[in-house]
Formats: sequence, structure tokens, C-alpha cells
Amino acid sequence: MSVIDLNQPATPEIITPLPGPKTKALIERDKRVISPSYTRGYPFSIDRGRGAVVYDLDGNRFLDFCAGIAVCSTGHCHPEVVQAIKDQADRFLHMSGTDFYYESMADLAQKLSDTAPGNTPRKVFFTNSGTESNEGALKLARYYTGRDKIVSFYRSFHGRTFGSMSVSASKVVHKKRFSPLLPGVFHTYYPYFYRDPIGRTPEECADNCIRFIKEFIFKMATPPEEVAAFLVEPVQGEGGYVVPPPNFLPALQELAHQYGILVIADEVQSGVGRTGKMWASQHFEGFDPDIITSAKGLASGMPLGAIIAKEHIMTWEPGTHATTFGGNPVACAASLKTLDLLERGLLENSQTQGAYLMQGLKALQQDFEVIGDVRGFGLMIGMELVTSRETREKAGKLRDDIVDACFYEGLLILGCGENTIRFCPPLVITQPQIETALRILRSVMERLTSV
Ligand SMILES: Cc1ncc(COP(=O)(O)O)c(C=O)c1O
Repeated sequence: MSVIDLNQPATPEIITPLPGPKTKALIERDKRVISPSYTRGYPFSIDRGRGAVVYDLDGNRFLDFCAGIAVCSTGHCHPEVVQAIKDQADRFLHMSGTDFYYESMADLAQKLSDTAPGNTPRKVFFTNSGTESNEGALKLARYYTGRDKIVSFYRSFHGRTFGSMSVSASKVVHKKRFSPLLPGVFHTYYPYFYRDPIGRTPEECADNCIRFIKEFIFKMATPPEEVAAFLVEPVQGEGGYVVPPPNFLPALQELAHQYGILVIADEVQSGVGRTGKMWASQHFEGFDPDIITSAKGLASGMPLGAIIAKEHIMTWEPGTHATTFGGNPVACAASLKTLDLLERGLLENSQTQGAYLMQGLKALQQDFEVIGDVRGFGLMIGMELVTSRETREKAGKLRDDIVDACFYEGLLILGCGENTIRFCPPLVITQPQIETALRILRSVMERLTSV
């Protein structure tokens, strides 16, 4: 059996009104006991899944084009990942890598070091989530440089614990009433050229962002000698699946090197094959971040994150940073299998099917004036909804309506940014499944925009 051939149906099958009775009952129960801070949109409840196909509690079948927010990289319950988890669970569930040794931790760290951009050997600290990875990376940057300031970007999202929340700047609701935040954080512009008010080229927009750091932040806000790190998403996720121009990240790195500043690439969403390369950073020639943070797809759905730092940077002494659960052996086993599957075909599938999906969305764009920019790499693709391509005004409500309507047709997608639909299906997605998704999208858009 090929690593992709999971015998997955190519179409959804909706057999009850949505939500069905069991889902309805669950939502009622859930409302009574679950924190209202979660951001549930349409009423989907999962019973089980395989590949890019999921079933709800009422037996309805859906195509999953969000993969548990870009987490189920190898698809739902890939049989080889499930087997690796079972095998490890039979041996031991936990021992704490903080105090003891086990093989899978070292094996996985070695693999991550080997796959990282550049040829510098790396060391790894394992966490349980994206926010923990970023939190730890910020600590490491301070420790290594002896500096305290951080520069990060508008529209970026790095997580919800205090450090990560402080460096994020995608939606104010994430910060509302949680201050005081981490001091010494400066936000600046990410080259979001589609919406550039004076129509500069992408490269000019990138140059301008770098100029802003030099001429404003470094002259008016903080001396560069006090900056520990630039924290940047190589492709912005939550902020709208924004791809920077090719010159941006190398220029940012050059500026960093000039002042002894570290570059931290937050690859929590964009990493682990999502963009058709192991790391999105590898799409930008010469870009070799000092620290990479990972989580989400790293272990196919098991909670695991990683801080992957150049060897000479990860030199903090024993006791400075540690964790009880980070690098849990079951999660490490799932992750080793995930990386194995990437090598054996999923990385290639991410490129091939990503190109196919991109082509399909571009064709859709030709027919719908309300589709603005379509951008991305591999299976990380964003599609903006606008009132018209001429004005490029954001059409957030239309985006929400499309996302909702697709659910009722059996297609699970999610939004990001103010007016973008994100497509981040599992890396096992098949061409027939993409064809179905495009067909559903087209019919929903025809209905909602009455073309
Ligand atoms: C780029 C990026 N960084 C960090 C995070 C936070 O990850 P977690 O929710 O696992 O803490 C996310 C989550 O969406 C993300 O997309």
C-alpha cells in the first residue's frame, strides 16, 4: 500500500439535516461545561476520521480541508502512525525527558537537525504546543544574546501564553484585558503587497518594510544593540496566509546579522511539509533562521512542539529551561513516523496536489470577481474574498458565508485573517478529493454571488 492510498472516498455524504440530532445534543452539553472563549463556527462534531475524510456523530461524511487547523499532516489516523503510537504505548507512556533518557527523543532531534535549512548542526528542545515553542525560543534568544527586546510583525500569531501573546499582533481580541504584556516588544510591517495602498511591486514593499525597521524602529524606538531577535512567520498563518516577496526574509536576515540579532522563524503552522518543503523557510534562498519553532503537524495530531536552534545558540545551562511532558515518547513515536511518511511520498504529494489545488483556485478566480489574491505554497493556500478586484476591499462577511455554506455541502474549511479562506488539507489529500472541493466551492460561490 502506498503511503497515500488510504482507500479514501472522494466525496462527502450528508445523510441528516445539519447539525444532526447527536451533534445537536453534544453542542448543548458542551455549552454547559466548556469555556466560551473557543471560536467554534459551524456545528461540526467528529466521530472518526481517515485520511482527509471525517464522519460526524450522526454518520455524515465530510471532506476535511483544514486538518484540525493544519495539524493532521499525515491525515486522520494514518495506519502507520496509529501503529507507531500503539507500539510505543505498549512499552512506556512517559518518563520525562527532563530527567531521563529515551531513544526516540534523540532520534527525532537528530532528524529535525538533519532536515533544517542550512548546514549548521542544531539542537532541539521539545515542547507540547506552538505557544510553548515560541515562549521557549524567546527565552533562548534573551539568554544567548543577553538582550531583551523583540521585533515581530503585524498580522502575526504566535500563541496565547504571555510571551507569545505579547509578540503576536493579528487580532486585538487575543490581548483584550490581559495586559500588562511582555515589555520591549516592537511590531512592524510584514510585506502584504496585495493590499499596498500605492501599488508598489512586491520587492519594493519588502524593501520598504526593512527600511522601516532601520529608519524608525532602530532610530526612534530601540537601539538595535538591545534587540535579541526578529520573530517572523515565513508564511503568515492566522494573519491571512500571507506569503512575503522572495527578497524579504533574506534581507531581514542580513539586517539581523549586521547587529547580532537572532532570527526566529515561527514554522508552527507552515512547517513539516505543509508548503511542499519540510520548512517554509526553505522556499527563500539563503534564508537560514537561527531558531525554528515547530508544533501543529509535527506529530500528526499528538501534542508535540520543538525549538530547533543552531548548536552554538542552544547553550543554556541545565535548569534554565525544562518541561515535564514536552517530547512525550508517544508523541515522539508519532512524529518519527510522520517524518518517515513525508520522506516516503507525502512531501511530494504536498507539492503535486498543492499545485493542482492552486491551479483550480486560480481557474475559479477567473470566473469570480470577488476572489482577490490566491497565494501560497504546497498545501498552504489562502484565497481572499473582496468586494471587487479593482477596489480590493475586504469581503469578510462573504468569506464567512462561503465557509458556512461549504460545511452544509460537506466541505470543511476555515477562515484566516479578515477575509481569507485557508486551505490546509492533510498531506494525503488526493486529486479526486480536490476536484470535489473545487466543485463544491464553485457551486456555493455561484449561489452566494449569483453570477
Ligand atoms: C504560526 C503559529 N504560531 C503559534 C501558534 C500557537 O500554537 P498553539 O495553539 O499550539 O499554542 C499557532 C497556532 O495557530 C500558529 O499558527
